[in-house]
Amino acid sequence: MKPIQVGLLGIGTVGSGTYNVLLRNEEEIRRRAGRSIRISMVADLDVARAKSVVGSDVEVVADARQVIANPEIDIVVELIGGYGIAKALVMEAIAAGKHVVTANKALLAVHGTEIFAAAQAKGVVVAFEAAVAGGIPIIKALREGLSANRIQWLAGIINGTTNFILSEMRDKGLDFDVVLKEAQRLGYAEADPTFDIEGIDAGHKVTLMSAIAFGIPVQFDRAHVEGITKLAAADITYAEQLGYRIKLLGITKRRDTGIELRVHPTLVPAKRLLANVEGAMNAVVVHGDAVGTTLYYGKGAGSEPTASAVVADLVDITRLHTADPDHRVPHLAFQPGQLAATPV
Ligand code: HSE
Repeated sequence: MKPIQVGLLGIGTVGSGTYNVLLRNEEEIRRRAGRSIRISMVADLDVARAKSVVGSDVEVVADARQVIANPEIDIVVELIGGYGIAKALVMEAIAAGKHVVTANKALLAVHGTEIFAAAQAKGVVVAFEAAVAGGIPIIKALREGLSANRIQWLAGIINGTTNFILSEMRDKGLDFDVVLKEAQRLGYAEADPTFDIEGIDAGHKVTLMSAIAFGIPVQFDRAHVEGITKLAAADITYAEQLGYRIKLLGITKRRDTGIELRVHPTLVPAKRLLANVEGAMNAVVVHGDAVGTTLYYGKGAGSEPTASAVVADLVDITRLHTADPDHRVPHLAFQPGQLAATPV
């Protein structure tokens, strides 16, 4: 079968990770998706830099609309970020009948209802595993793995930058500004770190999880959002002395009166698992009526962890929405002849 043709809009940290993961794990990805997935076109304003990331077989252009207009492109991956041009491009890609994969939590948390409705009307998919908690497959867990459950609540450390800042301040006694600069250097922080430190990024992510967990519209404007900028080093020390750690948690809960949606610094007893999630790591605890409490942990940011989620969405779309019925991949695609060794 012809490979699925992917067009990337933006090839920065996550885009280059996506390109590399698709190349490196080509065999496994083809087996799971049922056909090859190939990035055949990239749009980036810095054409020279983009060309240095991809092979000569990939067409690089400056104008994202050329990717969307290309009838050969099956899936558009939006990695530009923000609400402005990214929204216009996503809507245009949908209108052109392309499936969309995006890591853009800000866009979906604010305009998701409109975007998902447009996609549904057009019969295409907008997938966004990479938008929440980077490499942790929390969207798939909520939508698929826990689909039998009435979710009661979920709480998570879903912003690596602030968790890194809080951890470094506590462990090394460093100042807020110093640690923020380090988080930016390591590539964890948003282009505008205000989104991280004011809790907005975590607010976007918990809004998306809440919509999936409770089947409510995406409504970031209804979330209570408070960041870590008002915390002093002394708060962290006092919390420690009392047996707590301060964590920026995104929380959403089912209440009799409706669904609670909030982000704020929280005192977590030091023995709890969430209290021991350090550095830029993310973790989400989900409580469902049937399964009880479950925990998801991993890297919430960075090039290949986020690419892992982007590529998983590409595989899903390829497997479920682009295969002709004669070429559907079975639910579990084992390789013939690869048996596990028999224990002796
Ligand atoms: N700025 C985000 C974070 C990146 O620190 O978690 C991943 O969404």
